[in-house]
Amino acid sequence: MSLKEKIDLQRLPRHVAIIMDGNGRWAKQHGKIRTFGHQSGVKAVRDTVEGAAELGVEVLTLYAFSTENWSRPRFEIDALMHLLVQTISKETPTLMENNIRLATIGNTESLPDKVLKNLNKSIDKTAGNSRMTLVLALSYSSRWEITNAVQNIAREVKEGLLKPEDINEKLISQHLNTAAWPDPELLIRTSGEARVSNYLLWQIAYAELYFTQKLWPDFRREDLYEAIIDFQNRERRFGKTSEQLKSEHA
Ligand code: IPE
Ligand code: IPE
Ligand code: MG
Repeated sequence: MSLKEKIDLQRLPRHVAIIMDGNGRWAKQHGKIRTFGHQSGVKAVRDTVEGAAELGVEVLTLYAFSTENWSRPRFEIDALMHLLVQTISKETPTLMENNIRLATIGNTESLPDKVLKNLNKSIDKTAGNSRMTLVLALSYSSRWEITNAVQNIAREVKEGLLKPEDINEKLISQHLNTAAWPDPELLIRTSGEARVSNYLLWQIAYAELYFTQKLWPDFRREDLYEAIIDFQNRERRFGKTSEQLKSEHA
């Protein structure tokens, strides 16, 4: 039985989020500069995106550049931005072939014009695609997103569009960048780091967390399969007892 066959397609996570980490360490291991690691990560993105779409995952959200990453050396930021432009242009036809829609979350207005233009072109072009949504988190941080949501809600209250008592969990979710999609059920982080790094803090309240030692450029669809199999072997209790769940399913 192949790894893929071990996956129960009826119980797939609808939304998978990934923190693609370890490009710099991968490059170092290969005696190369950090940016070589980023370039090598593109292949992992391609394979993972295809693998997820083929399985039937509805939404795949990839952490590509965090708000905090703006503090990296200028040279590395420039290389990452250049790589983004290149990759988006090059991969858009593949997104079309695979019926994948592109979307972004984050403060994308802070990206260089050229990146934004390319992104918007690809987002528009793929807008009608329906097999899977690929969400790139760019200049994203969860605290930035939540702060924005709070500001917008406060504005609506001030303008009389909302009453303070209308504010509930659903309304908050609707004011986040991810309003259009279900919360991630599975969060994967590569490179052995066991932290969340300001990613989707509200949305992962009940996600299953999966950490792998693999560095991002080495990640392939089989690694995604392994994470999903692990996810499917967990008991998601949502505060209930194991006995309650068993009697509900009986
Ligand atoms: C992840 O790899 C890519 C980005 C954050 C853009 P890193 O660049 O963080 O690689 P390490 O963690 O230094 O190995
Ligand atoms: C998180 O990785 C951001 C992305 C993967 C884009 P980092 O490598 O920037 O995270 P920290 O700073 O080590 O937590
Ligand atoms: Mg890192």
